[in-house]
Amino acid sequence: MTKIIDGKAIAGQIRAELKKEVTHFKEEGREPGLTVILVGDNSASQTYVKFKERAATEIGIRSEVIKKTDEISQEELLQIIAGLNADRKVDGILVQLPLPAHIDQKVVLEAIDPAKDVDGFHPINTGRLFSGQDQERRFEACTPLGIIELLEREGIEIKGKKAVVVGRSNIVGKPVAHLLLERHATVTLCHSRTKDLARETRQADLLIAAVGRAQFIAGDMVKEGAVVIDVGINRVDGKLVGDVEYEGAKARAGYITPVPGGVGPMTIALLMKNTLKARKIHGV
Ligand code: GUN
Repeated sequence: MTKIIDGKAIAGQIRAELKKEVTHFKEEGREPGLTVILVGDNSASQTYVKFKERAATEIGIRSEVIKKTDEISQEELLQIIAGLNADRKVDGILVQLPLPAHIDQKVVLEAIDPAKDVDGFHPINTGRLFSGQDQERRFEACTPLGIIELLEREGIEIKGKKAVVVGRSNIVGKPVAHLLLERHATVTLCHSRTKDLARETRQADLLIAAVGRAQFIAGDMVKEGAVVIDVGINRVDGKLVGDVEYEGAKARAGYITPVPGGVGPMTIALLMKNTLKARKIHGV
């Protein structure tokens, strides 16, 4: 029997745990604070930001969304970030991506104080992750962290497993490969130029699909009994589908995450967890 991993339920459990922790921070004299900057009117970004704000408020995190039109200059955006870096009530700063083309994403992400970088995108934080340093004070990207939490809470052992990650983005593929490596998996990182991808994926005890292409991983590319984690969120004919051909993969997998309701809710829960970590680091 294939176990369907209920990311929505697990994320709810994490948020409930965090809510209790926030009470403790409030008693100490200051609740955690998260500020999200949203530039432009990308509808997917607006939805994600709404979910983030809702989750923060529900947990008791002081949350603020700064909305700007896509006419904002890079200079003005950098000034806003400088103000948030200096604001002691703000523990976490998140700039929702993508940014308009006239703004250099790299410059903006590097302007965020690494100690407030709850997205884990600053090169100081990715550097700490990639070199295995400073676990207590570094920030790791939320989707990769969410994947690890799903595995751990399902009692799935990572150590010694053959993990195959499909997709080499800075947001998911690369960081999740490092998190798995740190937990002693043997990791293969595949991408669009990988030759004979199916041969690689069929060897995976743990298959992470993060390519951003609808149903790219066919059912027959999955090893019998494998753990399949589908990170994709693709809209096809008005319906959300993952990067994995779900029914075919489910017939072979030991565990599988659905889309929606798998990894997606975990990303937001782990953003909240990172915000509490930032609050812990900053003190009252
Ligand atoms: N856009 C899509 N995913 C993300 C994310 O995880 N963080 C931010 N800041 N923007 C995104």
